[in-house]
Amino acid sequence: MELVFATNNAHKLEEVQQMVGNRFSIKSLADISCFDDIPETGNTFEDNAKQKTNYLVEKYHVNCFADDSGLEIEALGGEPGVYSARYSGSRDMEQNIDLVLEKLNAETNRNARFKTVISLFLNNQQYFFQGIVEGKIIEVRTGTKGFGYDPVFIPNGFDKTFAEMTLEEKNKISHRSIAVGKLVEFLNS
Ligand code: IMP
Repeated sequence: MELVFATNNAHKLEEVQQMVGNRFSIKSLADISCFDDIPETGNTFEDNAKQKTNYLVEKYHVNCFADDSGLEIEALGGEPGVYSARYSGSRDMEQNIDLVLEKLNAETNRNARFKTVISLFLNNQQYFFQGIVEGKIIEVRTGTKGFGYDPVFIPNGFDKTFAEMTLEEKNKISHRSIAVGKLVEFLNS
């Protein structure tokens, strides 16, 4: 069965394809000739992920799934949340991290979590899968690997940031792999 993943990120596609085996053929947006800028205007990760699958269902009538992720900081009432990629008004992650550190200046509650929500639309049914990794925001960027807020996030139970972990280490515990794991378990059941 074909299942469209609302992404063109080759790495994400390969990861999911490998995990589901050959019962499902995972297609990218490019594979179905979708080159649209799919709207993501929701207030929650659920809304955004669902908005993406709804768009594909309405326009292409396909079985599909979409993910949406971000960072939620307790002392900032859950910000940056759905605005994680452009919190400062820019997509420049240096500026986004600067803004987070500035807002947390002198704040002792450094609790934060990364969250991923996957929306799956399969045979006319809507499903959601969620992955969360809890941790802390540190004061000074540490590490050079990864992307986004990785240099300032230390997951609970570890003494290094996501940006100091290899991709393999991060993938064992990340919000995204937890959510993808739940999706794959469901598809394989
Ligand atoms: P997306 O929905 O996966 O594109 O994630 C949206 C934004 O959340 C990214 O642009 C990053 O700023 C942030 N983000 C999501 N996942 C991670 C992660 O694993 N590490 C660091 N930042 C992340």
